Amino acid sequence: MCGIFGCILKKGRAAPLIREALKRLEYRGYDSAGIATIHGGKLYVKKDAGKIDEIHRRLDLDDMPGRIGIGHTRWATHGAPSQENAHPHGDCKWEVAVVHNGIIENFDELKKELMERGHEFKSKTDTEVIPHLIEEGLKNGLNLEEAVIEAVRRLEGSFAIAVISTKEPDKIVCARKESPLVVGIGEDGMYCASDVPAFLPITRRMVVLDDWEVAVLTEDSYKVVNALTEEEVIKEERHVDWSPELAMKGGYDHFMLKEIMEQPEALKNTLRISDFYYDLLAASLIKAERRFLVACGTSYHACVAASYIFSKVAKMHVEPVIASEFVQRYGEVVDERTAVLAVSQSGETADTLVAVRYAKRKGADILGITNVMGSSLCRISSVYVGQSSGPEIGVAATKTYTGQLLALTKIAIKVARRKGLIDEKGEKELLEELSKAPEEVRKVIEKTKERIKELAVKYHNRKSFCFLGRGVHVATAMEGRLKLLEISYIPSIAYPAGESKHGFIAVVEPGYPVVFIIPPPDDETFDDVLSNIIEMKSRGADIIAVVPESALEKVKDFVDDPIVVPDVPKLVEPIAFIVPLQLFAYYVSVAKGYDPDKPRNLAKSVTVK
Ligand code: M6R
Repeated sequence: MCGIFGCILKKGRAAPLIREALKRLEYRGYDSAGIATIHGGKLYVKKDAGKIDEIHRRLDLDDMPGRIGIGHTRWATHGAPSQENAHPHGDCKWEVAVVHNGIIENFDELKKELMERGHEFKSKTDTEVIPHLIEEGLKNGLNLEEAVIEAVRRLEGSFAIAVISTKEPDKIVCARKESPLVVGIGEDGMYCASDVPAFLPITRRMVVLDDWEVAVLTEDSYKVVNALTEEEVIKEERHVDWSPELAMKGGYDHFMLKEIMEQPEALKNTLRISDFYYDLLAASLIKAERRFLVACGTSYHACVAASYIFSKVAKMHVEPVIASEFVQRYGEVVDERTAVLAVSQSGETADTLVAVRYAKRKGADILGITNVMGSSLCRISSVYVGQSSGPEIGVAATKTYTGQLLALTKIAIKVARRKGLIDEKGEKELLEELSKAPEEVRKVIEKTKERIKELAVKYHNRKSFCFLGRGVHVATAMEGRLKLLEISYIPSIAYPAGESKHGFIAVVEPGYPVVFIIPPPDDETFDDVLSNIIEMKSRGADIIAVVPESALEKVKDFVDDPIVVPDVPKLVEPIAFIVPLQLFAYYVSVAKGYDPDKPRNLAKSVTVK
């Protein structure tokens, strides 16, 4: 997730306005930024790694001439955060400049093709193919609008782009597919942006572009065409009355809710990551004799889930370990035949880094999954996957947890294929199953949201909760409990359901809320989970449960408050079934009057030991 902005003014300079707009989009990404303007037939570009204010101090971004320009604030997916990878990107002669939010899936083949035709590339980004494709169109006699249309038709994946060119210095052409893009209609000029907050202080009149739409902006007009049909589209104008803060949260009350809702989109982005990295990770894991998954908090829960998934899908033992315990617990067995796969949203968690640095000193192969490209974990890993979930601002991890689960599951499938446990067809089937995750999560949100709001109101004053699950849903229970605990301050516990009768059951008294994650009836753990529910129910517990539709009939007599979810493919279960528990935690926190985005005593990235 990056932020893009473009403006074409009737008078004055574009650059200061672009810089201020990028600042308002910084919540979408902040590892590098840049601006391009056109003046006197010449393109001016300033860009660098870092946050906008830092770059502005170094380069004076305001000091760029021209009434027209585009800008970008980046959340790296392809290519580490650096000056050369920062947007805008240009064609061979810097006559075209492009800013982009999204992921171009076929950039590798396009890049090869363009290089064969003599194009020179300066960055490692997927974006850079776009200006070169436009350059070819312009060379072949197309105008800028036509060249952009021709270029975007060749792109697979997601994009919101804004393009300027010295060939037609009086317009911005922007286009979108799957990444957001809005056009702002002002008194003093026209604007385009990833998101409304960018131009909120300037104008509240806007038009939302849909997939495959291309907008051509001049200083006092805009036109929208469909890139596939090339027909003009008449768009409905809207008036936004959001406050700047509400706009940043996409109209949601909190970032946490926005991020829960963003999960279908974020998962699509994780699915877009090239198989190349997953294959490399799988190869490294197979080569090792001992394999540890090391992480903290939510990321650790993703590792717990992965240990079940690796065992079932890839017949591989991977040991999930809480990072702060790794050295004490396994330090003496780490050597050059060990692989340590560290999972960290931020890539900067001190406990995780201490563990991997120790393992590296002892010769282990360090692998990583992180959401932050260029983080310390990326630098220390021999291979890593950047999960591309986009910036997560709420302290409670939500979309990055489901992204981690997806990435880990994909690695397990790749291991299974490499070990010969499945053939090409088998791999394709499993990957197809996994690719249903975004849509299944969307359905779960749609089906459960209102019901969970009611349950949160009903239960928010309880003093404690217990979360129980079996198999992979031990991890779902642990994560559901952490979500509730950290943002509502309700002391809660999570147990493997089978273990609950070895101690926890003593706590249960009438009215004690126990949350179960119930698998479908054909799951090998179903009968045992049902027995555990009956044990709790017979002691008077209030049973709340995530229940797939197919199990409802069998459990309805024992569950007080079912949260019914659709049946989903097996591999998608841990990803889909945590979502109602994220929502439950969120709404309980709100019902208690807390701010779920800023839980007390917690930081988004814990950089102390
Ligand atoms: O950035 P990391 O994934 O390494 O962070 C690990 C934990 O600090 C993090 O998951 C924490 O537990 C979250 N607040 C959970 O919502």
